[in-house]
Amino acid sequence: MRLTLAKTCRMWRAARRRLSSAPSPCTYEGAPSQRTLLALKPDTVQRGLIGALLGRFEQRGFKVVALKMLQPSRELAESHYEEHRGKAFYERACTFIASGPLVAAVLEGRGVIGATRAMIGGTEPLECAPGTIRFDFGAHWRRNLVHGSDSETAAAREIPLWFRPEELCQWEHCASSWVYELPTARTRFDE
Ligand code: CDP
Ligand code: MG
Repeated sequence: MRLTLAKTCRMWRAARRRLSSAPSPCTYEGAPSQRTLLALKPDTVQRGLIGALLGRFEQRGFKVVALKMLQPSRELAESHYEEHRGKAFYERACTFIASGPLVAAVLEGRGVIGATRAMIGGTEPLECAPGTIRFDFGAHWRRNLVHGSDSETAAAREIPLWFRPEELCQWEHCASSWVYELPTARTRFDE
């Protein structure tokens, strides 16, 4: 195919038009995208696994829209595990999550809440399936490396506990049309 300057300009303008009419970063295939809270707990940090574990979610195509390292206060730890208040392990879980720096993140994407839970695995690493984070990296339920919101309600409650609204970044992933079938995708199949 011969590309003249005029033709190149036309193609570039058409691509820009397609991009500007792209859905908001929160919408894929018309369905609202989800957000979830991910916490790489103090054992992840101490074991030098931040990159390895966060990388799994990036590789999957999920977008990191907020990220920070902090050592949570006792108050934040207690609010985070509020649903477990009164249970035998509540104190211990709060003490552990506040015992050192951790990395908190908000991930965004299609079905990210359930997908993140599936990638993390159940509470007891020895009962998790191979390929889950807790199976691949863990050996005890009190050192199970990662937290992920377990429902839309939990995500909506947890995200504001850890992040102020202005800490959440809206950005468009340059590979999004290779992860999702967006209107900007080069190949798109209408069903
Ligand atoms: O993290 P997950 O959602 O799988 O478990 P959870 O039931 O919400 O419990 C929160 C955390 O408390 C777990 O990840 C464990 O680290 C801790 N826990 C514990 O120390 N002892 C238990 N018997 C149960 C949970
Ligand atoms: Mg939980």
